[in-house]
Amino acid sequence: MVNIMNLSVNIAGVKFANPVTVASGTFSDAWDMKNIKQLGALIPKTVMLNAQAGNPPPRIVETPSGMVNAIGIENDGIDAFITQKLPIYAKMGVPVIVSISGKTDEEFVIMAQKLNACPSVALIELNLSCPNLKHKMLVAQDAEATARIVALVKKVVNKPIIAKLSPNVTSIADIASAAEQAGADAVSMVNTFQAMVIDVEKQKSKIGNFTGGLSGPAIRPIAVNMVYQTAQKIKIPIIGMGGIANADDALQFIMAGATMVAVGTMSFIEPDTALQVLNGIKAYMRAKKINDIRALIGFLK
Ligand SMILES: Cc1cc2nc3c(=O)[nH]c(=O)nc-3n(C[C@H](O)[C@H](O)[C@H](O)COP(=O)(O)O)c2cc1C
Repeated sequence: MVNIMNLSVNIAGVKFANPVTVASGTFSDAWDMKNIKQLGALIPKTVMLNAQAGNPPPRIVETPSGMVNAIGIENDGIDAFITQKLPIYAKMGVPVIVSISGKTDEEFVIMAQKLNACPSVALIELNLSCPNLKHKMLVAQDAEATARIVALVKKVVNKPIIAKLSPNVTSIADIASAAEQAGADAVSMVNTFQAMVIDVEKQKSKIGNFTGGLSGPAIRPIAVNMVYQTAQKIKIPIIGMGGIANADDALQFIMAGATMVAVGTMSFIEPDTALQVLNGIKAYMRAKKINDIRALIGFLK
């Protein structure tokens, strides 16, 4: 008897061949990556309405089991993205999830409308780890602002939308719940943890922007717990990330409740990490005689 293994997952009607993707901002422009077609989806770096140069260097510093970055969303703006980069992503044969961030509510709406008109965009991810100008905090630190932006975007698009959440909150599950109630089709979590590294000899920050965000294996157990807590509270799918280095790590997120997983920082160490994660998940399922990845999603209660 042939043992057919199902790795495909579904988010808001969009089918992904498998649950493994790469986290926004961590894999260059992807067309350098080998075997990219094997991944479940692609999430390019966050795009903004207008081009911006990003933060002064140094932008990244290595820390124990991780890194602190403050890139500052260097990007060419949404129009250049749509005309120059999107056609290349569209040819890769993998669903493309486009990540956007606005400086105002209106900017989110304008960008979402532009992407809604692009057939090659499968889903739109709202990177809500941007300042909420009204309150000088991140949008994703404010349940009301999160819900307001999700609802505004939802009104003008017919593509599914994902809210990317910040872990720098008291209860990420509450923010996820606000996003769900406002109409989000999925949540993506976690973004980086606010962090700083001081050069004691030079008596200054090691990051040009002064502070940055911590990512990599150092954050993994916290991120897994956040996915688990959130999965107990919401019904929409979760895209889980935070320090995934191998299949075991990815399976922790899946068992905690993630429908998809994204590899971020570890791609800097080994560009093929995401593919190794995928192959490792297949090997695990084969060894455990599990025919359908969906049997593992939220397995741990
Ligand atoms: C260098 C770098 C750049 C990033 N840029 C973005 C970005 O543009 N948009 C975004 O939503 N997240 C961005 N992130 C966050 C990652 O997508 C991911 O949420 C986070 O790093 C946790 O996953 P990891 O530990 O596997 O890297 C960035 C992370 C790093 C390390």
